[in-house]
Amino acid sequence: MSESNIEVRKLDHIRICLDKDVEFKQKTTWLEFVELIHSAAPELNYSDVDTLTEFLGKRFSAPILIEGMTGGAKGTEVINRNLAMAASELNIPMGLGSQRAAVENPGLVESFRVARDVAPDVFLIANIGGVQLVEDGVKLAEEVVRMVDANALAIHLNPLHEIVQPHGTTSFKGIFDAIRKVVEKLPVPVIVKEVGCGISGDLSRKLEDIGVAAIDVGGAGGTNWALIERIRASEKGFLENATIGKTFLEWGIPTAAATIEAYALTKLPVISSGGIRNGLDIAKVLTIGASMAGIARPLLQHAVVSSDRVVATLKRLISELKTAMFLTGCQNIDSLKRVEVVVMGRLLEWVKQRGIQHPKIRL
Ligand SMILES: Cc1cc2nc3c(=O)[nH]c(=O)nc-3n(C[C@H](O)[C@H](O)[C@H](O)COP(=O)(O)O)c2cc1C
Repeated sequence: MSESNIEVRKLDHIRICLDKDVEFKQKTTWLEFVELIHSAAPELNYSDVDTLTEFLGKRFSAPILIEGMTGGAKGTEVINRNLAMAASELNIPMGLGSQRAAVENPGLVESFRVARDVAPDVFLIANIGGVQLVEDGVKLAEEVVRMVDANALAIHLNPLHEIVQPHGTTSFKGIFDAIRKVVEKLPVPVIVKEVGCGISGDLSRKLEDIGVAAIDVGGAGGTNWALIERIRASEKGFLENATIGKTFLEWGIPTAAATIEAYALTKLPVISSGGIRNGLDIAKVLTIGASMAGIARPLLQHAVVSSDRVVATLKRLISELKTAMFLTGCQNIDSLKRVEVVVMGRLLEWVKQRGIQHPKIRL
């Protein structure tokens, strides 16, 4: 695929994500099967509730991560600038979109670099596709980290997305070894993420064994990449891709299930993402094992307007998180992580069938 085609694809993604409802339709995150227990007499003042968080050895004001979305096309600078300014103002970490386009076309470096330039102190996460690492991965990984002076690298795994995408890259053989080599050589921590189909506990464990620093589960229930690529494929006349996309529209491990699996099967910090839409979702994922909650598409519509809009949205999420903490009698994030939960229905069924041993879930 030519460079200009990658740019067109990136702009298509943003256009479709802004204009259309591209969330999962039937499958949810399954966070509705996680219930926090109301405390009618919380022994604390709301004003004392504190969301300060530690993640990968750094302190952040809240357990919220702006997930990687963009860069790699002319016009996307403004989005990364607004996201980075908001991340810096609130002291939360931020991911960038896949930097492959800028490796192939240095004219696009600025669309990523802008985040570092406007926010020299922000915890910035570089991004590259795992499938791109299969050949000469270490060199590529070092280059994308250097491009933005990144504090960490996220390697995204997206096999369904690549299948549905016209001309997607589907040569995944050797990917695990490629990730291992990058982890060994890179001076910054490596996070492995999905983009909406989830990472199983078994894969999380294998990734832990090769030294990955954190798992970002990228579960099902939020932004749906089979749907986004199905829409693109239909627009461009790739009917087979569009049909496959339709068949696999509801494919993937729901975010709550993936979070529980990664937490139960590894000792790694878990980022819970995919369909996190409010502060109560954030509270719930923390109670079932996440260290951070990641959010992508809900921030996009604000990031195209201004950093103030992004800040306002994130502040609303933090207020909702604090409300959930207050209502469960938790003054800080550590106590929220310890609080009891009730897991029900399909999520409980999943945990049982998978034989997952989670300290808070009684089978
Ligand atoms: C417009 C857009 C572009 C994205 N591009 C990337 C990308 O380049 N690399 C990546 O790892 N994830 C990418 N993602 C996926 C997100 O990081 C996230 O995993 C996914 O959208 C699920 O989160 P959500 O339901 O909160 O949107 C993108 C998401 C959006 C909305």
